[in-house]
Amino acid sequence: MLNQEIYQNIESWFETYSNSFSSENEEIQLNFDLKRNHSFNTVEIITELSSECELNDEQLLVSKTIALLHDVGRFAQLLKHETFSDNEQDNHIDLGIDVLKSENVLGKLEEDTVQIIFECIRYHDIDTLPKSVNEEALTFLKLLRDADRIDILNILSKYYTEYKPGSNKRLELELADKPEISKMVYKSVMDEKVVSKKDVLTLNEQKLHQMSWVYDLNFKKSFKVVSEKNYLKKIYESLPKKDEVIDMYRQVKIYLENNL
Ligand SMILES: [Fe+2]
Ligand SMILES: [Fe+2]
Repeated sequence: MLNQEIYQNIESWFETYSNSFSSENEEIQLNFDLKRNHSFNTVEIITELSSECELNDEQLLVSKTIALLHDVGRFAQLLKHETFSDNEQDNHIDLGIDVLKSENVLGKLEEDTVQIIFECIRYHDIDTLPKSVNEEALTFLKLLRDADRIDILNILSKYYTEYKPGSNKRLELELADKPEISKMVYKSVMDEKVVSKKDVLTLNEQKLHQMSWVYDLNFKKSFKVVSEKNYLKKIYESLPKKDEVIDMYRQVKIYLENNL
């Protein structure tokens, strides 16, 4: 059974593991630090959101564990490939599950709990919530997806508005900063659907993909945080002010307001 002591051991493992990565390249080092902080921030946010779900003590520790470990594959990905851009062969999901298995990080947990944790890692980053997830994992997966996206929106809304474009290529997933926005992307946002990752070819489309996450938030508190912190507005401010962009911003904003 997952208890406080086991959670603390997992946390110490994560500290040691994540701190074992470093780089002489300043931008890579910054991204190692950023991912480590993102993991701890996701734990804090998931703890907040969990209060909406009446979890018992063990379930709360499960949600903190998935938040802490969900991006553990990012470190090896950044070291080996110097990118956060996932593909079929090299992606942070498989790399993460592999390291948790090879280092036996979850060895003290019951098999059911381990499966829930792997299920949540596996599906945290796909465009929309999968339909085939087992009932028990579903609440945790919803919590993780919201918490993860809230912290990413926090990081990126700052990055897009306060930093020089191109200063952190990894955060931009090496996408071209071109003004075109495809009809597919426009249609998804206007239809209140999450923009599919496969339709994202430019940095502006990536920003719209991130704004469209609002359509896939699961908890009242998540809408509240996104609204209070003005994440959508900040990202919108970094986009070219074209009629279609204004339409899309209006659409996500109305959706957000209707869910408060
Ligand atoms: Fe991730
Ligand atoms: Fe993440």
